[in-house]
Amino acid sequence: MNKVRHFKSLLDVNKKEFLKIINNAIDIKNKINSNEKLDLFKNKTLAMIFKKNSTRTRIAFEVAMSKMGGHAIFLSEESSQISRGENLSDTAKVLSGMVDLVLIRTSNHNDILELSNNSDVPIINGLSNMFHPCQLLADIQTFTEIKGSIENKKVAWIGDGCNMCNSYINAAKILDFNLKISIPTGYEPDERTLELASDHVELCDLPGNAVEDCDLVTTDVWASMGLESESDKRKNVFKGYQVNSNLMSKAKKDAIFMHCLPAHRGEEVEADVIDGKQSVVWQQAHNRLYTSIALIDFLLNENSN
Ligand code: CP
Ligand code: NVA
Repeated sequence: MNKVRHFKSLLDVNKKEFLKIINNAIDIKNKINSNEKLDLFKNKTLAMIFKKNSTRTRIAFEVAMSKMGGHAIFLSEESSQISRGENLSDTAKVLSGMVDLVLIRTSNHNDILELSNNSDVPIINGLSNMFHPCQLLADIQTFTEIKGSIENKKVAWIGDGCNMCNSYINAAKILDFNLKISIPTGYEPDERTLELASDHVELCDLPGNAVEDCDLVTTDVWASMGLESESDKRKNVFKGYQVNSNLMSKAKKDAIFMHCLPAHRGEEVEADVIDGKQSVVWQQAHNRLYTSIALIDFLLNENSN
């Protein structure tokens, strides 16, 4: 089997490659908005395995393929042989003989590793319990468009130490920005991920300290997919960690607010913030399309030899 470049987490790309994907996404967005016809993925096929729900990720990758002259195939766990016990190693060997890329969304990060260890084509992590690297591409594109380079800028993560938080920690390490995290005890991000980026990340007890003087405030739901049964307990634990106008007033005056969505207004974020003028969540969501195109383009080129 040839050495394949995958996108299991952001750690699969270096700084230069990360920035190349972002700049390409911005370029592709401009071209699409000027009605330039592109067929970057002509005759290419992406298989997408979803073991969890999705709106943005599925649509972004499906539209990315169709807009560029290629094709995407959606496989839910239930409708495929995976739910009848076919393992991911066999699935990878079968799919990689027929398609050019495979995306998977799953609870278990080991699924991503099992697929990538057995695939001749690139595997894209479309979200796992550990990471959500595709979302970070869109977040960084959005930041770059509005504020310029994120290098040395200050970012605050408020709330749960979830997959999004782990990916922000990876991004801070790779792109050299300062990340301040405020999370209740017991809900911290992955220890190893944190260790690897210790020179770029600071843990703050109080959300107010994390957002002080920062350029970007970001958060995510308090109970990620699969943790719905903990929802009530978490509402109690996280209640001091809501991003509201009082918290936003401690950030830089021109700070922006991001959320990967879906959001729960009145829980992790106040409606006044997510629907207010510092929020850039719609631009962020739309950029999922352009970063998906740029990521696929990167992986196809890297694996073309
Ligand atoms: N942000 C994100 O990944 O959204 P979906 O769950 O809708 O794909
Ligand atoms: N942390 C969230 C992200 C959803 C896009 C989850 O895993 O449900």
